[in-house]
Amino acid sequence: MRGLSWSDVTPKPQWLNRRQLMAGGAALLATPALAKIEAAKSRFSTDAAPNTLSEITTYNNFYEFGWDKGDPARNARLLTTDPWAVEISGLVDRPGSYGLDDILKDAPLEERIYRFRCVEAWSMVIPWIGFELAHLLNKAGVQPGAKYVAFETLVRPEEMPGQTTRSLDWPYREGLRLDEAMHPLTILATGLYGEAMPNQNGAPIRLVVPWKYGFKSIKSIVSIRLTDTQPETTWNMQNAREYGFYSNVNPEVSHPRWSQASERRVGAGIFAGREDTVMFNGYGAEVAGLYAGMDLSKDY
Ligand code: MTE
Repeated sequence: MRGLSWSDVTPKPQWLNRRQLMAGGAALLATPALAKIEAAKSRFSTDAAPNTLSEITTYNNFYEFGWDKGDPARNARLLTTDPWAVEISGLVDRPGSYGLDDILKDAPLEERIYRFRCVEAWSMVIPWIGFELAHLLNKAGVQPGAKYVAFETLVRPEEMPGQTTRSLDWPYREGLRLDEAMHPLTILATGLYGEAMPNQNGAPIRLVVPWKYGFKSIKSIVSIRLTDTQPETTWNMQNAREYGFYSNVNPEVSHPRWSQASERRVGAGIFAGREDTVMFNGYGAEVAGLYAGMDLSKDY
């Protein structure tokens, strides 16, 4: 939040969704029913206990701000996230620059408590606030020829010190097959723990795909492009043998340098054992059908 925060003057569930409130008129601030919509619970949320806000916001991967887990919390403070727009292009009926206010004004925000599994074999449980990516794609009007969705993060080396080095080929890029992108579990998150998204977690808008390794969940998105060809993705470009396009969580396919059979829950304490990693990060009932007939040891 910039300057005087709405959190200073309004109860949390209301300022969270202030853009919707502005669109609907200030009188709605007094409507109690609205709080329910804003904090709508989801059948897709896990019952597992979430990690603490401090764990979620101090142990991050956001290489635009540095390589250490603590770098994003230190360095992302100065990132300007207002104004913000997402360019939607390619095979859509209504291409253009969509301002964040426009994106959020009719977005059905929900709390989604998701398991989050990094390819580095650590995991967390994170209470995101967001809406289904399908909502935005439908708003833009996906054309019949579209088969993939390509995403890009902001490039702004003045505010993103990691981008002054060639540690990765900027912008950070990610992609999904269209059916993965349209799946109801796939969300664009704009907050967590009932607050606007902290910069280090990908403010103001980032992808969350809970059945895939965390690097697919691209942060601080400025571009969404619908294409008919599989897009280039950052880690696949960096090292195709280690990081596939699909990158579904899969305990049976080891990373060339470590096993993916188990994971360490961040914050669990030094005496807690590792947990077994579950196929599709536990979301198999919802998503396994997307990969029917595919050999996931080859299409990893
Ligand atoms: N998005 C961008 N733009 N840059 C990044 O470095 N890191 C990815 C993903 N999205 C990354 C990114 C990786 S490796 C992970 S594990 C998650 O973000 C981490 O998300 P978190 O810090 O919110 O837990």
